[in-house]
Amino acid sequence: MMDVLARDIIHNDSLAIIPQPSSVQLRKGLPPFRMDKNLKIILWGENSRLEDLANRFSLQLKEYVGVAPPVIPMRNYDRERQVIVLSLSAEKDFDSEAYSLEINRQQIIVRASAAAGVFYALQTLLQLLPPREVGIAPRKSFLLPSCRIDDRPRFVWRGFMLDVARYFMPVSLVKRYLDFLAMHKINTFHWHLNDDQGWRIEIKKYPRLTSFGAWRKDSQLELSGKQMAFSPHGGYYTQEEIKDVLQYASERFITVIPEVEMPGHSYAALAAYPELSCTGKPREVSTRWKVHDDIYCAGNEKTYKFLEDVLTEIVALFPAPYIHLGGDEAPKIRWKNCPKCQAKISEESLKNEHELQTYLLKRMEIFLASKNKKLIAWDEITEGGLSPDATVMCWRGFDGAITAARQGHDAIIAHSKYTYLDHYQSEPYLEPLAWAGLVSGGYTTLQKSYSLEPIPVQLNRAEEKHIIGLQAQLWTEYIRSTDHMDYMTFPRLSALSEVMWTAKETKDWNYFKWKMETQYKRLEQREIKFSKSAYNVYFNVAMDSLNRTALISLSTDSFDPSIYYTLDGSEPTPNSKPYIAPFQVDMPVTVKAATFKNAIRISKVNQKTIMTTQY
Ligand code: ACM
Ligand code: ZN
Repeated sequence: MMDVLARDIIHNDSLAIIPQPSSVQLRKGLPPFRMDKNLKIILWGENSRLEDLANRFSLQLKEYVGVAPPVIPMRNYDRERQVIVLSLSAEKDFDSEAYSLEINRQQIIVRASAAAGVFYALQTLLQLLPPREVGIAPRKSFLLPSCRIDDRPRFVWRGFMLDVARYFMPVSLVKRYLDFLAMHKINTFHWHLNDDQGWRIEIKKYPRLTSFGAWRKDSQLELSGKQMAFSPHGGYYTQEEIKDVLQYASERFITVIPEVEMPGHSYAALAAYPELSCTGKPREVSTRWKVHDDIYCAGNEKTYKFLEDVLTEIVALFPAPYIHLGGDEAPKIRWKNCPKCQAKISEESLKNEHELQTYLLKRMEIFLASKNKKLIAWDEITEGGLSPDATVMCWRGFDGAITAARQGHDAIIAHSKYTYLDHYQSEPYLEPLAWAGLVSGGYTTLQKSYSLEPIPVQLNRAEEKHIIGLQAQLWTEYIRSTDHMDYMTFPRLSALSEVMWTAKETKDWNYFKWKMETQYKRLEQREIKFSKSAYNVYFNVAMDSLNRTALISLSTDSFDPSIYYTLDGSEPTPNSKPYIAPFQVDMPVTVKAATFKNAIRISKVNQKTIMTTQY
């Protein structure tokens, strides 16, 4: 149950906006704005992006009010009522993503300094409309509360990474996710385009990358000695398809960052071009989920030529200022035993194989710089000395971010314990098979994701500025369907979007949980098969071994849940004991608990046997 204080924070008329804006002032008592088929969209400011986004917004509104509201330039506007005014002006001291949204009886006024700000205002506006219920005819007329919202993001880098190498995702699915990102005001899509198990982007100069490197015989999932084999798998994007995705992303103010993994996670490329490996041995695209010893040979000039050729095509396609070069999990065993790599180490007076990796990435950084692009890589690049302008994406904790920021490098927080969406989100035995890696423990609840504070306390004011944002990661080794992908991504991405956007002082876990009740309906409206694991019950047990009793508290990651429990081993029902407050039991005992809504169980049944000795 919620404590009384937390319940008081949330007023009946609070707005359920995710991510939470910087400031929301509700004008209680002032009449609302009526949105219906008479609505018009007025453009204030000549800007083709503004016009495009107004036209797309009009089509979105059609789903609500039944007709697409006309989009009218300001000069033809005759002080009408029931208008949304989209106004671009440079006078305001606005970042390009900031906006204000004012709603009164006659008008909705959006102000921003750039089209991106207007776009985010409209995402907020959509959240002021009630979620449309699936299968129920639209209402067509809505009252929006009189209010003023001022908003700007906390971080410039608000990212989502999708691994399409482990499983290929068609363009339609990528676009579906870009829509979800836009809805959450996430502005960066990091596309993990190649890995040991597949190469997914057409490179015209090296056709075998996709004719051979995009396909694998099967996919073997090894778990506790059990091995499951899945059928052949593959796929890739043509350059035309990539351009189509880039256009779609750009319309949603999303920057697409391609990742080209090097020197490790390159088994699929080495399968296509074995001469780029240290051993030169022929091989097939990997079917195993593991870190592979075979990586690009850094002693062979052919490798550098190949990587530069690939990057030349990548750079020509992607307009983003950054290219991600991977750099993670590259075992050095092949380099240790490779005469070419060893010769390169001595020629270049490098100390060891780590420095050889830095050498390779530095060369690529110089190459990228010649094309006006900056390098990003995973935090392993802090190990052999950072290349001069590299931005570090920190997945193994905060250390990489601290090192990077102190050396004046930008860093992006991708801390696995908070942002890896392939982790379990509640007790593993209640969940589908997920990643349970040792580094992370593989256990990331909704609350855990929400609790992320991306700026490490160790950094001073000047260093803090180098933490440019954070990112959620969807690795897909264990993800076998679109539904499962949705399940792993949501609701945790909703929580992380608030970490990305909302000021630290404005974030509020209890309020967020309350808002999620509305957000779940929005996710349903978009046919997102989100996880309901936030309703699963957690046990907190304080044992008194001497008296063989235990005090048990039950909680969930949902707002004010109705939890029912049993102590006799039976399944909880709405007729079981309601959980009101922590209770005492005699040991041994088995507690079973679940969350209900309208007398229907909405969680899994969680159970725990409590004995004097815990195993
Ligand atoms: C990673 O998880 N290897 C970045
Ligand atoms: Zn080598």
